[in-house]
Amino acid sequence: MDLHSSVLRQLKSRREGFSLAQPFYIDPDYFKLDMEMIWYRDWLFIGHDCEVPRAGNYFTAQIGDYPVVVVRGKDGAIRAFHNTCRHRGHRVCTSDRGASAKLVCPYHQWTYDLDGSLVFARQMGETFDKSEFGLKAVHCESVGGYVFVCLADEAPDFASVRATIEPYLKPHRLWEAKVAHRSTIIEKGNWKLVWENNRECYHCAGNHPELCRTYPEAPTATGVQGAKDDPFIAAHWARCEAAGLPSEFRMDPTGQFRTARMPLIQEAESYTLSGKPAVRRPLSADVPISHAGTMLLFHYPTTWNHILGDHAISFRVLPLSAEETAVTTTWLVNKDAVEGVDYDLDELTHVWTMTNDQDRAIVEENAFGIRSPAYEPGPYSLEHEGGVMQFVEWYSNFMVNRLQGDKARLSAVA
Ligand code: FES
Ligand SMILES: [Fe+2]
Repeated sequence: MDLHSSVLRQLKSRREGFSLAQPFYIDPDYFKLDMEMIWYRDWLFIGHDCEVPRAGNYFTAQIGDYPVVVVRGKDGAIRAFHNTCRHRGHRVCTSDRGASAKLVCPYHQWTYDLDGSLVFARQMGETFDKSEFGLKAVHCESVGGYVFVCLADEAPDFASVRATIEPYLKPHRLWEAKVAHRSTIIEKGNWKLVWENNRECYHCAGNHPELCRTYPEAPTATGVQGAKDDPFIAAHWARCEAAGLPSEFRMDPTGQFRTARMPLIQEAESYTLSGKPAVRRPLSADVPISHAGTMLLFHYPTTWNHILGDHAISFRVLPLSAEETAVTTTWLVNKDAVEGVDYDLDELTHVWTMTNDQDRAIVEENAFGIRSPAYEPGPYSLEHEGGVMQFVEWYSNFMVNRLQGDKARLSAVA
């Protein structure tokens, strides 16, 4: 049986409410299929507008086999390109980030404008047509300060993502924030284990002493069910909505993305040990109330986010191999906030630095146990792990649809 058919059969016959079979977490061929069906074809959060505030600012990222560069043009637009020179394929931008009036390939100095067009290629002969060798564009959209890219030739619809998340993000003005800190950690586990761990707080009380001071472990806050029936959450939504902040739980029918504004514990306003704001300057003047909790934004497969009154934290997941995943955390603050004056960097980053490391250890131990031939899919807690079940269901449905779609197309051709 070929790989497509075998994965399809396993996903269709999987036991609902149970974790996935071992190869989904460790097998390089299954990983390759994940990359082809999801990562190379769908919208991925890649970074923030404020990481490229001026024309010529760029940052690079590696999405599976594809090096990508995101750059701000002279017209202010943010664009993304395959970071592969049209001469002989050298990476054009070799640093993580930088600023440059033009993008110059270090190999033979082919030079590209910020819109990707080739403007200079030395001694290529009179018949050489520069217009044929511009950088290949990658689909790129910016919404509320978040930049998404899609590697597919034809990108799926982005309008529904924009329509859902933009009103929630807008009051936070993240497109004009600044990056206070960024960290990338490598977790030795499959990208789905990183997500499964993120999608429940069943593990929080036993593992996250710092986070649990301010973040409620209630499944209604983290999961996908029951939020509106929780009187504490309903009261929070009513108060925030009255102040003009969209807050109610909203999930796309596909289950791929969702938003909600959740209260923190008691009087907490931020993820600090004291619960007090870590940054003296509020993130945005358009958030008119204090104690607005955390605006949660999820978009599979790349990002989860916490947007608070004083700062925002974004998380970007990028798979490196079947058993390695890079998680980049970015702390955003008001662009005028001054380190050492308005915030202490250690205080700002402490809770999530600890939490990330605790989660890394969990994911790695989870991966360790799954490698055992004795591993078999186990049951999720209905009460606490509804969010994980929803993630696995999304993954499963998404893969089944794509695998069947491919098959239908192939058979149509045959
Ligand atoms: S490979 Fe880029 S200029 Fe030659
Ligand atoms: Fe965790």
